Amino acid sequence: MAAVDLESVQGTQKQGYALYLALERPASPGHARSGIGGDEGGGAASVGTNPGTQWGAANTLFANIQVVLPGEVVRSHRHTNGALRFIIEGKIGHTVVDGQRYPMVPGDLVITPSWSWHDHANESDVPILWLDSLDAPLVRLLEVGFREDYPDEIQPPGEGNDNSQARYSSGGLRPAWEPAPSTPHTPMCRYPLEQAKAALDRLAAAEAGSPYDGIILEYTNPITGGPVMPTIGCYIQLLRPGEHTECHRHTSCVCYHVVEGSGYTMIDGQRLDWEEKDVFSVPAWAFHEHVNSRDHPAIVFSVTDIPVKRALGYYREQASPSGRQ
Ligand SMILES: [Fe+2]
Ligand SMILES: [Fe+2]
Repeated sequence: MAAVDLESVQGTQKQGYALYLALERPASPGHARSGIGGDEGGGAASVGTNPGTQWGAANTLFANIQVVLPGEVVRSHRHTNGALRFIIEGKIGHTVVDGQRYPMVPGDLVITPSWSWHDHANESDVPILWLDSLDAPLVRLLEVGFREDYPDEIQPPGEGNDNSQARYSSGGLRPAWEPAPSTPHTPMCRYPLEQAKAALDRLAAAEAGSPYDGIILEYTNPITGGPVMPTIGCYIQLLRPGEHTECHRHTSCVCYHVVEGSGYTMIDGQRLDWEEKDVFSVPAWAFHEHVNSRDHPAIVFSVTDIPVKRALGYYREQASPSGRQ
């Protein structure tokens, strides 16, 4: 791709600095680090903020930390915002999405598509914490935000427990006795970490991976192969011990959550050290490169607005002409 300096043609494209949010634990429900809640139904949240964006961790995405205390229930509701949770800590909790009950254990990615009823509960004796990411800034910009409370606190037991795993997690196989799901989001709402890690390990043993991201995998809609939601793409990557990726930039913004390991990311000349359970973001069109400076693999989960940028024809990517920072 020919080098084009988007800053010269689009002054608002890249705003402010990257977020660096160490995991901060709200003391109790209602005592969030900022005055804004995470999931509107309840539960406390540390809201990822970025001094260069109007609100949220990135111009199109929220990346918050939400906590649900033992015995707490987040009452059922739905909204235009597409949302997802990546479970960070806890024993056993569950979320109900449109009548399906999904367990939530550390490392799980759980999808709550736009306008789906959802409620959450923590039945354990310890708090459950998750990365809570939504496309809320984009929804606000587009002026399409709607929200509705469910008539009752929780949804009644529906079809049962997470049958999407049994139906769609076999890879390239789906139930043939019914039409293929045609929703714009994935029909598989829960993606366990052990499956992702097994795939990362297999590929790390055999492939070089991406020069910019190491071994990186996208969580996909098993029917279409596309992103899990039309507005948010989800990825997980493995940086090998000592790996230092090449430098590039792209028009998608990215929010990262460190699952395992530690290292640092250079973003437009700024070094951001990160370790397990940290959250940070890379703004659109900012040069960045990742470094795993330790002697064991680093596993990093990320969310991006790349499906939106690609769908509109606005996605572009550029390798750094001057090499690493
Ligand atoms: Fe919600
Ligand atoms: Fe990148």
